[in-house]
Amino acid sequence: MTIAQLKIHDFRNIAFADILPSPNFNFIIGNNGSGKTSLLEAIYMLGHGKAFRHQLSSRIIQHNKSELVLFSKITSSTHNTHNVGLSKSRSGENKIKIDNDDGFKLADLAKLLPMQLITPEGFDLLTGGPKYRRAFIDWGCFHHYNEFILVWNNLRRLIKQRNALLKNVTSYNQLMPWDKELIPIANQVSQIRADYIQQIQDEIINTSHDFLPEYVIDCQFYQGWDHSVNYADLLVEHFQRDKLLNYTTIGPHKADLKLRVDNIPIEVLFSRGQLKLLMCALRLAQGEFYAQQKQQTCLYLLDDFASELDLTKRSLLAKRLKLTGSQVFISAVDQEQIQAMIDENDKIFYIKSGIISA
Ligand SMILES: Nc1ncnc2c1ncn2[C@@H]1O[C@H](COP(=O)(O)OP(=O)(O)OP(=O)(O)O)[C@@H](O)[C@H]1O
Ligand SMILES: [Mg+2]
Repeated sequence: MTIAQLKIHDFRNIAFADILPSPNFNFIIGNNGSGKTSLLEAIYMLGHGKAFRHQLSSRIIQHNKSELVLFSKITSSTHNTHNVGLSKSRSGENKIKIDNDDGFKLADLAKLLPMQLITPEGFDLLTGGPKYRRAFIDWGCFHHYNEFILVWNNLRRLIKQRNALLKNVTSYNQLMPWDKELIPIANQVSQIRADYIQQIQDEIINTSHDFLPEYVIDCQFYQGWDHSVNYADLLVEHFQRDKLLNYTTIGPHKADLKLRVDNIPIEVLFSRGQLKLLMCALRLAQGEFYAQQKQQTCLYLLDDFASELDLTKRSLLAKRLKLTGSQVFISAVDQEQIQAMIDENDKIFYIKSGIISA
């Protein structure tokens, strides 16, 4: 999938832009504060309905404007073309249009525009809480298992209801009807996640090895409770504690992906540059697995590409990205940082005070 045309209206400091990106690499060059991240955020928003740095629409819509509008013409590997439009008002309401039809959901956008984001803030994937790794796992589950979104939504609803109920119940029996519904859903979500991780595990290990050949990364899925124990029994066992905390302390909403080297958590062991390389390896592994399974490339967005990486690692990452044959958007403050990566099919966009020129 590639973006053949992108139009932006009133997105942060970009009042208007209309660009025709290359299906290969697109470099976005500009000084600090020129709008590079904003451009990447606009693309990200087309696939997610929200920006990656700020959730509040008032932060994303250009000052003194009432809404932002994004439009893109996207082309699939089978040369199908879709027109995707998204507008967001100050109240946060999204309007999505696909091929001139309304009534689409964010999940429809996400299916149409799969993308992998690599930003300096993206270290959260490795150093932040388990929710970042769950989001990583669930991206794959969403794209590879049609039933996942439904069971995942049910799981969220049931956990929320259970937490609310915990405030009022006095014995476990009162929770039982909810848990009867929750247990099979929890097991189903965990089963899908485990299956997905098992499938991409080799891809993760191999890609990590390309970037960090001196380490053997161990990647283990934790489903949110000890897998040798029955979830139903654990819910009974943890009832008093859950009741005290008004919160369900175990379950798939606590799942994680544990990344270690020789049993040492990578966030303790690795330097910043190594963490960035591992983050790139995970994103690439996921994107590549998607491409193999779907016969369709996914998009890569790399903000502040050069940060934390030395020259050798930058060219290694560039080489690996070129091999994917995907459309890639890369921002950098200085053309020198990306000069060695530019091929004849690539495009460079210069951005100054929100104005983009090719
Ligand atoms: N809602 C808004 N309306 C107009 N301008 C905004 C809005 N929000 C932020 N800006 C401005 O947009 C500019 C571009 O920010 P952006 O983060 O895209 O820059 P950048 O090129 O990525 O910079 P850096 O190299 O420092 O990362 C900033 O100067 C910021 O003040
Ligand atoms: Mg930036």
